[in-house]
Amino acid sequence: METFYANLPEGHVLKTLYREHEIILKTLDKIAELNTKIQGLSTVEDAENDLDKLHHLAIKVTESEPHHQREEQALFPVMIERGMAGPPTVMTMEHEPIRKYKHDLKDITVNYNGSSWDEIRTKINSTCTGLCEMLSSHIQKENLMCYPMAFQGISEEHVWQDMKKKCDLIGYCSFTP
Ligand SMILES: [Fe+2]
Ligand SMILES: [Fe+2]
Repeated sequence: METFYANLPEGHVLKTLYREHEIILKTLDKIAELNTKIQGLSTVEDAENDLDKLHHLAIKVTESEPHHQREEQALFPVMIERGMAGPPTVMTMEHEPIRKYKHDLKDITVNYNGSSWDEIRTKINSTCTGLCEMLSSHIQKENLMCYPMAFQGISEEHVWQDMKKKCDLIGYCSFTP
């Protein structure tokens, strides 16, 4: 773990968000790997098993919704209040297309009857590639810029405690460590 996050106390809002990022990134690696495999297959029958695996990975990524909500409802409003409006505004805007990619992937990995294998494969490829690129670059921006900025700009312990309480109310992801 990067030193900044390793040095945060256990249960810190930012440490939990960072740990979730690590799991999301691993899931994205698996999605990219499976997509590469699927692109090499020649019939939908050959791909059924892998499409099912991809569907379950897509479900796992959609379960990151409470992560985005904790950012949007607990962390970002305090950053905006403190005059750090730029990064949270951009990050919130990015959540929308990311949500769409996740739900599209969940959908196209089951509802593909009636399309040709070429159509299915092309759609899978563009959705996987779009999701992986957009979500991993989003996570890098949060890890390297947005979260450290929040930590620097919010020095009062009680404000972090209040954010933590809000996070607890919103809830965690099925995969939160
Ligand atoms: Fe985010
Ligand atoms: Fe995030």
